[in-house]
Amino acid sequence: MTEVERIYQLREELHRHNHLYYVTHSPIISDQEFDHLMAELQQLENLHPETADPNSPSVRIGSDLSQEFTQVPHQIPMLSLGNTYDREEVRDFYRRISEGLQGKPFDICCELKFDGLSISLHYEKGKLIRAVTRGDGIQGDDVTANVRTIHSIPLQLTPGSNYPETFEIRGEILMPWASFEKLNKEREAREEPLFANPRNAASGTLKNKSSKIVAGRGLDAYLYYLMGKDIPQRSHYDNLQLAATWGFQVSPHMRLARSLEEIYDFISYWEEERKNLPVATDGIVLKVNDITQQEHLGFTAKSPRWAIAYKFKAERALTCLEAVTYQVGRTGAVTPVANMAPVHLAGTTVRRASLHNEDIIKQLDLHIGDMVYVEKAGEIIPQIVGVDLKSRTEKLGKAVTFISHCPECGTQLIRYEGEAAHYCPNDATCPPQLKGRIEHYICRDAMNIDSLGPETVDEYFERGLIHDAADLYHLSVADLCGADRTRLKSAQKVVDGIAKSREVPFERVLFALGIRFVGKVVAKTLAQHFCNIDAIKTAPLEELLSVDGIGTVIAQSVKQYFGEPANITLVERLREAGVQMAVVRRETVSDHLSSQSIVISGTFIHHSRKEYAEMIELHGGKNVTSISAKTAFILAGEGVGPSKLAKAQKLGISLISEDDFLKMITD
Ligand code: IVH
Repeated sequence: MTEVERIYQLREELHRHNHLYYVTHSPIISDQEFDHLMAELQQLENLHPETADPNSPSVRIGSDLSQEFTQVPHQIPMLSLGNTYDREEVRDFYRRISEGLQGKPFDICCELKFDGLSISLHYEKGKLIRAVTRGDGIQGDDVTANVRTIHSIPLQLTPGSNYPETFEIRGEILMPWASFEKLNKEREAREEPLFANPRNAASGTLKNKSSKIVAGRGLDAYLYYLMGKDIPQRSHYDNLQLAATWGFQVSPHMRLARSLEEIYDFISYWEEERKNLPVATDGIVLKVNDITQQEHLGFTAKSPRWAIAYKFKAERALTCLEAVTYQVGRTGAVTPVANMAPVHLAGTTVRRASLHNEDIIKQLDLHIGDMVYVEKAGEIIPQIVGVDLKSRTEKLGKAVTFISHCPECGTQLIRYEGEAAHYCPNDATCPPQLKGRIEHYICRDAMNIDSLGPETVDEYFERGLIHDAADLYHLSVADLCGADRTRLKSAQKVVDGIAKSREVPFERVLFALGIRFVGKVVAKTLAQHFCNIDAIKTAPLEELLSVDGIGTVIAQSVKQYFGEPANITLVERLREAGVQMAVVRRETVSDHLSSQSIVISGTFIHHSRKEYAEMIELHGGKNVTSISAKTAFILAGEGVGPSKLAKAQKLGISLISEDDFLKMITD
């Protein structure tokens, strides 16, 4: 068998094991064996870039390449469903259907309403070709690269399973509770904002620009609507059972109901049992099962007449408001937090709830000692939604009023016009602000000093070792590990990690400074336009405003930041410490390979392929992926594939070994 034939064999095998593992949950090989096959495939694919296939099982690891999402119109609009929280309205729906069908018998397909985001998948000849979000219902975002990383979505349908040549299938992408909790735990450790619920986490993830990040987030999918002119059955239920045999994950909890009583039984059962599901659900969907009957009933402008969603009520508990405390964040924003008598709600004990801002406190007219209603409407962070006025006694507790001074440093708070939040303006010495800025500086998207975490920053801060980001560069192993030297190894790691951050490119340094409203994208824009910190520092407001993507709020914030002498000092100290304060234009070191197009193929001993690619660029050459008449030579390692060899021979292109190549560039 040739290497290329082995690639095709491995792909088919891995598709089958993926399906057995992620969809039917009945794997027949160990994880280790699976990883082994995948490694073999990846290695062979590297050797044979000509076999590249976006549906190869290896794409499931995703890529770091940033992708912009293009908008794609839906062939058939993606409508939403009519909603109800009321069983009486389910009865009305049932009656309307019965009347619409002139009393003829009908079945209702009862399904769980999965709480994620809807997706439309297109298949041609058994291959996934496109995945589009709902968007505004008329057109959505093309998120194919990200969807390809979701294991329960088949890239290639089960061979021989008789699927139509082309069809569309719609369903819900969701983040299972387990993945959601893991993700939020990681975010908490990095002090990144938490996702409020699995739905937000799933949609935030699916819109991420790096499919590698998506691949690591454990998304899942259930499909619930098969469409297209060649769909096999006139029964919605039967179509989905067939789709399951093609390789799709279809909910095992769909049931056909023949009466209103059976529908109510389904609702009652799942109102309780949904708490034991591995994924979030927010209701039940009821659909007329027969497609001819669906067509007869038709659509209103917004939703099908043949379906309705019955939504579960948010779970709610009553408890006593004992106190309101205040938290100060990195930007100085002050958040009020309700502290309550512990109460059991939707599987967890709730003690605290965010009150967001002063306006919310006023709206609720909160008094200490009030009995308050707490809700978790699929939200993981509980909310106070009201006060039980009946239980207020004559002895009304003290009204909750927003504090006037910072609980951490005592400075008088300010509330900017048009904003709901209060801020502590003392960014020079207020401890949580200082610590927060250092934590932001080291975070992954900024300087990525991953040997340090929020707890370590906290410890160093309390020990007086650091007050700002520039202090990090003066830390020594001796400072960190203390007298007993027990933590030598980890201290060395911290110091090395900090030292390495000197290589972080300027655009991320600019983001790391934590200038208000200067996020990752804005930082990149500014860095590309101005090229160095001094140009940004001295740019007049009009020049900042002339940059595409920079509006008044950002421009003013940048001016304000650099108007602050303390910030100028920090920037200078960072510069002295060796942090990048300008965009580095890569200079070529020689013109040995001037304008030559070079293909890299095979595996190497002295350097990685990436390093060789960099060397080619540094010496004036161009690294290209496919062989053509313009190719100067092939930098050939071990195991260059037969098709490449044949092509090179045909075009008379020579193969250069890595030793010869290294000589070439050093001569
Ligand atoms: S059927 C035309 N079935 O709920 C019918 N939708 O407002 C299309 N959803 O946007 C939808 N589980 O994202 C259907 N079993 C299910 C569902 C479901 C969740 C979502 C879907 C849709 C929204 C309805």
